[in-house]
Amino acid sequence: MSEPIKKELETKIELQHLIKVYGKNPYIGLNLFREGKTRDEILELTNQVVSIADISLKINQGELFVIMGLSGSGKSTLVRCINRLIKPTSGHIYIDGEDVAHVDEKRMRQLRLSKISMVFQQFGLFPHKTVRDNVEYGLKVRGIKPPLRRQKAEETLALVGLEKWGDYLPSSLSGGMQQRVGLARALATDAEILLMDEPFSALDPLIRREMQDELLRLQKELHKTILFISHDIHEAFKIGDRIAVMKDGNIVQLGTPKEIISQPANDYIRAFLQDIYDSKAILG
Ligand SMILES: Nc1ncnc2c1ncn2[C@@H]1O[C@H](COP(=O)(O)OP(=O)(O)OP(=O)(O)O)[C@@H](O)[C@H]1O
Ligand SMILES: [Mg+2]
Repeated sequence: MSEPIKKELETKIELQHLIKVYGKNPYIGLNLFREGKTRDEILELTNQVVSIADISLKINQGELFVIMGLSGSGKSTLVRCINRLIKPTSGHIYIDGEDVAHVDEKRMRQLRLSKISMVFQQFGLFPHKTVRDNVEYGLKVRGIKPPLRRQKAEETLALVGLEKWGDYLPSSLSGGMQQRVGLARALATDAEILLMDEPFSALDPLIRREMQDELLRLQKELHKTILFISHDIHEAFKIGDRIAVMKDGNIVQLGTPKEIISQPANDYIRAFLQDIYDSKAILG
């Protein structure tokens, strides 16, 4: 029997020794960090917060990669460094081989317009624009002409099941529907990378589950590279191809759900997993 040909995974995003220190003089914090001082010591000594403490990882083309961690672990900082809403203090962020940690703001704007889209927790819709205009907005700022813009918006609204809602204002839609609009807006741009910072956290549990299914369905069709932030282990395990668990600006474990369940790295991960076992026990 011939060996199945293993498809080479292509790296889409690569972080190398990424460090982010918040504070008035981050380089003082950075130097102390490099000298081996802990996050707590640096905070006490200098009031600087080491939010990302030297992270390296690779995300593959077409992967749905989840970053999971408790509040304050550094998830939003990490994702915002990738589209440079936050400037990293040190390290490299390669997107298709281009180090976006070190490109100028003009180039970064281009990348935000072409390659990277973001979906926010609180939907981030314009309240006075119709659903259709909200979806069209990202295309408008990219300079796409009205007829094409309209067509693309209609197509994308249909993709997320909102084809009948184009004329409405966001306020007449439920939370779940509003987040579908947020998703449609990001998808309409044809960006290859979607950054999603706890996009479903504000939704009721049932709607949330529906949106997770919706995202998985869309991803099967679209094969985007998705970096999805969550603080919910159930969500992470349900949707993630791979998961990185963060704590205090570090990655505690990185792997597929299967790998993490079968070989938890330490007690911190085991405590997270207990949550899954507990809910399974309730279900019997
Ligand atoms: N602008 C800032 N100035 C100083 N410290 C900050 C700033 N933004 C975040 N931090 C600190 O950096 C750390 C990581 O914050 P971050 O918002 O990235 O966490 P998070 O994992 O996204 O949390 P959450 O789940 O609550 O959204 C926290 O200790 C936070 O207090
Ligand atoms: Mg956050």
